[in-house]
Amino acid sequence: MSNLKKLVVKSSAAKKLRLFNPWVYQNEIAMLPEGLEEGECVDVVDLKGNHFGVGYTNVKSVITLRMLSFKQEAINGKWIKERLNIAIASRNSILEHSNSCRLVHSEADGLAGLIVDFYDGVLTVAINTAGMERLRKEIVGALIDIIKPEGIYEKSDASVREKEGLETTEGVIYGKVPDFIEVVEFGCQFGLELKSAQKTGFYLDQRFNHGILTEYVDEEATMLDLFCNVGGFGMHALNAQAKHVTFVDSSAVAMEQVVSNISLNDFEDDGRTTCVTANAMDYIKDLADKKETYDIVVLDPPSFAKTREGAKGAVSGFKHLILNGIRVCKPGGIIALFSCSYHVGMDELIEISLDASRDTGKQLKVLEHMYQDKDHPYLLNMPNSLYLKGLLFQVL
Ligand SMILES: C[S@@+](CC[C@H](N)C(=O)[O-])C[C@H]1O[C@@H](n2cnc3c(N)ncnc32)[C@H](O)[C@@H]1O
Repeated sequence: MSNLKKLVVKSSAAKKLRLFNPWVYQNEIAMLPEGLEEGECVDVVDLKGNHFGVGYTNVKSVITLRMLSFKQEAINGKWIKERLNIAIASRNSILEHSNSCRLVHSEADGLAGLIVDFYDGVLTVAINTAGMERLRKEIVGALIDIIKPEGIYEKSDASVREKEGLETTEGVIYGKVPDFIEVVEFGCQFGLELKSAQKTGFYLDQRFNHGILTEYVDEEATMLDLFCNVGGFGMHALNAQAKHVTFVDSSAVAMEQVVSNISLNDFEDDGRTTCVTANAMDYIKDLADKKETYDIVVLDPPSFAKTREGAKGAVSGFKHLILNGIRVCKPGGIIALFSCSYHVGMDELIEISLDASRDTGKQLKVLEHMYQDKDHPYLLNMPNSLYLKGLLFQVL
């Protein structure tokens, strides 16, 4: 018998838990035990006394309970190590064509609130919840034991920690972390400076899609890589012998990295690149007004909608992008359109694109459906864990 306190959920939550959805909101809780500490583990039961397993709590967060296990088991160092081993083993195939990947993807790896990335022997960790914060020592210890990394850099997500009532934290927490790491992806190199990089380092979730796009590149191809970050799509296109790539991002730091990645891959002196630090929303409209056109247009904006309420604004942002994307795409050319916001899903992307097709009088043929790479798994019963979706169109 467990000696954990019991948290009682309402029947609405019980229904979700039966389908293994790991999140329970504040208003779905029938009774919180007294004296709960932030992040404390509890036994989860419903009003009829059915047991659902073990989760951790934080009354400061609207997601008041996150499940760790749908069995009654002890959450300790041994348990952490087992979960990490399972997660890490499932990434082996990725490391055959890259030296970097995501090792732990939060709920989808049964470790709600924890992200771990591997970059050529160095780890970044994001400990985003009070529950994971309580297990920090066990997590870091197990990662050192299993991976034997050169160093560990913590890059926890400030906005998520804030919602949990936790302070932001960033910096080296173990060993040595080099200022500069070289990420290799399908033979292309990307410099990574963890201190200045966005998120937990690198957009690893787009790895597979970077590869897909190169299938459409030939020596005559010109590409517009909008919201390029450090140049994932464009750098692979250059590697596949594209004629020219225009990189655009609003972040000066990201653009400096694009320039340095161009020389890292020895593309610098061949005149095949243009790098622009600008607002992509305005830039694409200017290009369209000037009647500039490209063979391949990549539209990979940041999350326009972090909440359901924000989805309306996001739709008009996407509409602007796809409308102008069609205007700057050559006849027979390709557009890759991505949404990394759960609130703008594949159905919405299709609907917005259909609208744009009607408005421009251009037929769009779908060549590929694209999703986050497999080191970012998702849970069927947790739809918001499938956050990255993309469509590859040919403009007819
Ligand atoms: C999802 S990331 C792109 C990832 C990239 N395509 C890759 O494959 O690695 C979104 C990028 O958009 C940039 N960004 C955000 N707002 C922007 C804007 N208004 N104009 C241009 N870039 C913007 C961010 O700096 C970030 O690099």
